[in-house]
Amino acid sequence: MKLLVIGAGNMGLTYSEGMAKSPLLSSKKLKIYDTDPSKIASLRETGTFDVYEKLEDCLPTADLVFVAVKPYHCDSLFEEMKPMINDSQIFVSLMAGVTIGSIQDSLGVKKVVRTMPNLPAQVGKGVTSYTESKEVSRIELLMIRNLLDTTGASIHVETEKFIDASTGISGSGPAYVFYFMQSMLDAAKKMGFSDYDSKVLVSTTFEGAVELFNRSDISPQSWMDRVASKGGTTRAALDSMADNNVNELIKDAAYAAFDRAVELGEADK
Ligand SMILES: NC(=O)c1ccc[n+]([C@@H]2O[C@H](COP(=O)([O-])OP(=O)(O)OC[C@H]3O[C@@H](n4cnc5c(N)ncnc54)[C@H](OP(=O)(O)O)[C@@H]3O)[C@@H](O)[C@H]2O)c1
Repeated sequence: MKLLVIGAGNMGLTYSEGMAKSPLLSSKKLKIYDTDPSKIASLRETGTFDVYEKLEDCLPTADLVFVAVKPYHCDSLFEEMKPMINDSQIFVSLMAGVTIGSIQDSLGVKKVVRTMPNLPAQVGKGVTSYTESKEVSRIELLMIRNLLDTTGASIHVETEKFIDASTGISGSGPAYVFYFMQSMLDAAKKMGFSDYDSKVLVSTTFEGAVELFNRSDISPQSWMDRVASKGGTTRAALDSMADNNVNELIKDAAYAAFDRAVELGEADK
């Protein structure tokens, strides 16, 4: 199978690095196309991928095309791609807010998979949600799932509404975790810990809590109840969060991202 990734930025390169290890590529190297001469030069130096600077040299022969440019670049890119593509090719979009229908219309193709990637894919701990146009077969979808899984986990969703919803949970989610981490780092430093000690205290606490959660069937609420005894320190912190409605505020934030993803998709129509 010939796999081409268009756009060697944060996401394109992250997914390329994962997918390059897939047995589905057999002995063939993954192809990457980008327009930035400095990126092309540095990628060629590593020798990991077949790097292209002309679309006509890589696009017509590709079986599967991942599109990982910023959404505002896709109109001009699609215009350039259109004369070089065919109906048997599958297009997988990593772009936020660009709908399957608009990709089909702009490119004049049928087989499109839309994904919502997330940043921890950079360390093999990503989660990608994906959905497809009805023309993509089960076998093709399974193959794409295997490729996405090289960067972590993947979740198949039935409709694009859930791609927008996963933007609010996993796509934008790492930033919510960083937000919480930053607050705890600020508090640790205010209490007098050094930068190094603050980082160890905060990052190990996050890692440990996630590990506990993953290794059991116990809900976060039950974990909170277990660690917070009446009149104790943790209860004081949780009561302070409840008094300030933090739970509702976090849900509002996730919905703000979800709503914005829907809005971007509407603007794209
Ligand atoms: N970053 C995230 O956390 C995240 C999360 C979810 C979804 N996404 C989605 O992932 C996509 C890529 O984001 P990113 O952060 O990886 O962007 P990025 O770092 O800007 O990468 C895009 C790359 O594509 C290149 N490019 C621009 N126009 C091109 C064209 N016509 N043909 C070929 N290459 C072209 C860019 O070159 P120049 O630098 O020269 O423009 C750049 O190297 C976006 O659509 C975004 O919505 C990102």
